[in-house]
Formats: sequence, C-alpha cells, structure tokens
Amino acid sequence: MRTGFANKDMLKQRDIERDDNSKKNHPALMPAPAATQRQPFLEIKNVAKTYNSARGDVAALEDINLTIQASEFIGILGPSGCGKTTLLRCLAGLDQPSAGEISIGGKLVAGPPDNLGVVFQRDILLDWRTVLQNVLLPVEVYRLKMSEWRPKALQSLDLLGLAGFEHRYPWELSGGMRQRVAICRALLLNPSLMLMDEPFGALDAMTRDELNLELQRIWMAHSKTVVFVTHSITEAVFLADRVVVMSRSPGRIADVIDVDLARPRELAVRETGEFARLSRKARILFEQMGLMSASVRI
Ligand SMILES: Nc1ncnc2c1ncn2[C@@H]1O[C@H](COP(=O)(O)OP(=O)(O)OP(=O)(O)O)[C@@H](O)[C@H]1O
Ligand SMILES: [Mg+2]
Repeated sequence: MRTGFANKDMLKQRDIERDDNSKKNHPALMPAPAATQRQPFLEIKNVAKTYNSARGDVAALEDINLTIQASEFIGILGPSGCGKTTLLRCLAGLDQPSAGEISIGGKLVAGPPDNLGVVFQRDILLDWRTVLQNVLLPVEVYRLKMSEWRPKALQSLDLLGLAGFEHRYPWELSGGMRQRVAICRALLLNPSLMLMDEPFGALDAMTRDELNLELQRIWMAHSKTVVFVTHSITEAVFLADRVVVMSRSPGRIADVIDVDLARPRELAVRETGEFARLSRKARILFEQMGLMSASVRI
C-alpha cells in the first residue's frame, strides 16, 4: 500500500488553503489537523533494544510505548546517544527490537515496509547519478513503469524548487538542495509513513527554516504520518503535533508534549508566548537530565 492517508479533514484543509491564500497569514483561523485525527497507525509496545557488541551489551532503548495516529507529525527530541536512530531503524524494519513489538497499520514490522520513505541526516545521494536519476531510484528498485513516474519525479522536483536542476549531479548542489533531492526521493512513491533522522541538522539556520516550512506544506498537502528526529527544541515544537522527549541512555520516553499551535504555522509563531511555554517545557526536561544548564557542576 503506497497511498497516503488522505482523510477528509486534511483534504478540506488543503482546499481552504488553496481557496484563500490570505488565511495563511492568520494561523489562528486554521485548526491543527492532528487535533481531529484519532486513527492509530503506528504502535510501539514495550520496545527495548540491546546491542550485543564485542565490548559488551549496550542497552540503547528501554520500555518504549507510543501510539501514533494516522497523519500525525511526531517530533523526537533527545540527547546524543539516547537511541533515536535505533528507534527509527526499528520502525523502518532495518533492525529488530530485542523485546516488544512494533506494528504499522495493524501489521507487525518484520522488515522494511513498502509504504515507507526515509530521510537520513546525510542525504546518501549517489554521486554518479543525476538529480532526476537519484529521485527515480525507487522506481528502478521496485521495477515500476519509468514513463509513469518520470513526470511525477519532475513535478516533485519542481515543487521543492529544483526545476532546472534535474540533470545536475549531487556534487554540483548545495547542502540544502541535496537534502531537497533526498526528500523528493523519499516522497516519490507517496509513502504513508516518513521517517526523518535529523534531516536538516547539517544545514545553516536560514535553509533549515525554509525546509521546515516546505516540510510542513508537504505534510499538510499529502497527509502523511511523519516521525522526525531532531536535536532542536525549536524545530520539534515548530513542526510537530506531539514532541516525544527521550531521556539519556538507555533511551526511555521522559515525556510527550502536545503542541496545539494552529496550522499552517508561520515562523513568527516561534515568537509567541505559547511557543515559548512549550519550548521551556522541553528545556526543563533536559535540565532535569543534567543537560543544557549553565551552572557549573563540581
Ligand atoms: N550497531 C551498534 N552496535 C553497538 N552499539 C550501538 C550500535 N548502534 C548504536 N549503538 C549504541 O546505541 C546507543 C544509541 O545509539 P543511537 O545511534 O540510536 O543514538 P542517537 O540518539 O541516534 O544519537 P545521536 O543523537 O548522536 O544521533 C548508543 O550508546 C550507541 O553507541
Ligand atoms: Mg542518531
């Protein structure tokens, strides 16, 4: 199944957006889509992961329980080494939990599901293939009809501001452009689930802001479930419906913060009192873990 979960509320939201662009400037007029979603899609039950390495066992995750609704945008925040990538790898079926289970759309994850798009911190583009050939890679892997998918790839590149760059090579692009290509590739087959592991971590602040806005736009238009790992509290609160804060290794869920800010969110929302309140909540959790504090510990 590769179709997205285009439910009525999301489509309505898109139509409102199209019909009245002026409303974009009035986020308060737009209901947050996730507020109306109540369809469990991804279920993580009692998941633990221990790596057995030559240097001994490493407990990466412990007691992870989380239910994610269809079309929900989940942000995952946590200190380095707390198991965020491990969790994403388990969700993607690239790794098996040592205990517990994960199901997507009611089916237990036993290997990479085919309705999945993944974007990693480093874009992993193939340097010997052009931008278009990189985006079309999944079409080759799944042996789909090239003539059908080529126009869609071009359309998707256009949507992400890459029209005219189809025949360039990745090494001719900036970091932000490369990441856009990686997003186009992950989106091409219209996956219902997108897993993103610090996709914008290596970018400068302005490009990151731009891509945050683009990602929000794509998510609102295509109604995907997104699990987005980041180290940035601001990015997590800006993008997510719920922010899952993980504690230090072995990673556990320390808290889940509901973000009820209306959509579409403009960058200016970051200057509001409500945004500051939500960010503070996450920061305090990290301070309680002994992180992000200026006080000197002797
Ligand atoms: N293949 C592996 N073998 C042994 N230990 C591993 C392996 N992969 C990860 N780990 C360990 O598991 C823990 C969690 O790693 P993981 O990469 O999931 O953390 P992370 O939260 O993504 O960190 P970062 O924010 O730095 O990317 C770490 O202690 C790491 O050293
Ligand atoms: Mg990681």
